[in-house]
This record gives sequence, structure tokens and C-alpha cells, in this order.
Amino acid sequence: MAIKTVLRMGDPRLLEVAAPVAAFDAPELHGLLLDMRDTMAALSGAGLAAPQIGVGLQVVIFGVASNPRYPDADLVPDTVLINPVLTPLSDEMDEGWEGCLSIPGLRGLVPRYSQLRYQGFDQFGNPIDRTVSGFHARVVQHECDHLQGILYPMRIRDMSQFGFVEELFPDNPPVAE
Ligand code: NI
Repeated sequence: MAIKTVLRMGDPRLLEVAAPVAAFDAPELHGLLLDMRDTMAALSGAGLAAPQIGVGLQVVIFGVASNPRYPDADLVPDTVLINPVLTPLSDEMDEGWEGCLSIPGLRGLVPRYSQLRYQGFDQFGNPIDRTVSGFHARVVQHECDHLQGILYPMRIRDMSQFGFVEELFPDNPPVAE
């Protein structure tokens, strides 16, 4: 399909609440996912939400394979998650560095729930139900925030921990998201 332009912070479409997908295993949905995969791969992202390419539907993709640049990052399976429901399993939160393809060049320290259950569907309508923690849980929360019109800087508690990646991490930038 095609590599799409990723909307950048400031575009009002990134602040909208996305609508649920009604028709699974449909050509429009498969086409959207091809565009999202092409776009995420071209930008070496760890995840992408449909609103980031201007489509206001509850569709996210994510996945982190083994990467020698990021030896400490957990592996996250390639996942298509549609109409997600997230349920934190405790009040425990962790702070971790995040980036976003809609906010290129920056990173921020963001609190996220440490453990959560996520449910939803793949593009064929098959149910997904996983309990995850750590980096996997962080990626899911970041991507699903996009469906609520929330960008990670809105969750940063200490704005001194927000800046350009080259300045924050001159030697070893953390994984992008
Ligand atoms: Ni993002």
C-alpha cells in the first residue's frame, strides 16, 4: 500500500477520540493496516495508532523485535489491536522514557501502569486477551492513549525530564515508540 504522512503534535486530529471499528475482515480495514505497517516500518517505530495517519478509528499496531541497538528492551510481539479495553491490574506505576512518531526527536519520562490486561480484536475479529507488564504494558498504554486524543507529553509529571533525544542521551538513545 503506502507510506503515509504521520501527523505531528499540534494537528487537532491527534486530539480527537477515535471511533470503534464496526466491520472486521473488510478491505478498508486491511488496507488501513497495510498503510500503518508500511508507515511504522519506514520510520522504525515500535507502534502506531490509526489517528496518527489521520484515520479516526480504534486501531493500533505495535511490536518490538530483537534490536542490537536496544539490548535492554523487552521483546513485544507484532500485534494488531482493535477496539481495545485496558484494565490496570494494580495501582503500581513505573516511569520510563517514551518517544512518539508524532513528536519526532523528543523523549519524555512518562508514568505508566506496571501491569495490565488488554482485550480487543485483531483485523479478522478474533479476540485478543493478554496480561502484560513492563515495556509491553508501556507500549500498549502509549498507543491506546492515541485513541483518546492523549499524547505522552500530557502525562509527563516532571517537565525537566522532557527534551531532545540527542541532548538527553548522547550515547545510547532509548527505544522509540
Ligand atoms: Ni505515539
